[in-house]
Amino acid sequence: MISITIDGRKVKAREGSSILKNLQDLKIEIPTLCFHADLIPFGACRLCTVEVKTNGKWQLSSSCNTNVAGGMEVRTDSAKVKESRKLAAELLYYKYPATKAVKDMAEKLGVEVSHEAAEGNDCILCGLCTRTCHEVVGVDALKFQDRGLGREIEEPKIEYISEACIGCGSCAYICPTGFVKMEDKGRKRTIWGREFKMAACDVCGRYFAPVDQLKWISKTTKVPMKKLKTCVSCR
Ligand code: SF4
Ligand code: FES
Repeated sequence: MISITIDGRKVKAREGSSILKNLQDLKIEIPTLCFHADLIPFGACRLCTVEVKTNGKWQLSSSCNTNVAGGMEVRTDSAKVKESRKLAAELLYYKYPATKAVKDMAEKLGVEVSHEAAEGNDCILCGLCTRTCHEVVGVDALKFQDRGLGREIEEPKIEYISEACIGCGSCAYICPTGFVKMEDKGRKRTIWGREFKMAACDVCGRYFAPVDQLKWISKTTKVPMKKLKTCVSCR
């Protein structure tokens, strides 16, 4: 364990842990949109900014992807921190004014928002879906579109690789804006515009998971398919 100072208070922190993790452990509320505790931090939204004293100088850093170091001093609530978070929220709101998660966050951080505009579900490029697909599911069906050399600079997009997808829906569950749409109707799941056949539970008959997902689990865990054909409630 190492010693760090947070808002003037000396605390112990685990070496190699992020500043954000330590702030959350201390129940200090920090705004985030692109962070999930089970995923490698990405540093996209900049909402989790704090001030860190480095070489005697206070500097702004995103707390989710900056690790603690012995003797580190952190400020979570200074005027500079508040201004920086508000600016990050303002930029997001400017780009995605109709997206509820963005609007709510912007308003919370002091940005004036309009409640009259229509509601939408934009992709804010937080990367939660790509990281979940890669790090947790392990199928890489989503990635940031490769814009390639020599192509005009344009906004990156999430690319869906249909043939790799197993229809598990993890991206839909984790997406903070509702951009990823998933619909389950009887024996059919539709996600990213692709249809998947659902497997029915051998015990209760409920459609509970895409067949492709069960095949993937069977292949990666070596558990035979017939043992995977029971839903969680009937196991
Ligand atoms: S689709 Fe959703 S989870 Fe994926 S990058 Fe866009 S906002 Fe984030
Ligand atoms: S939560 Fe840290 S940059 Fe988004």
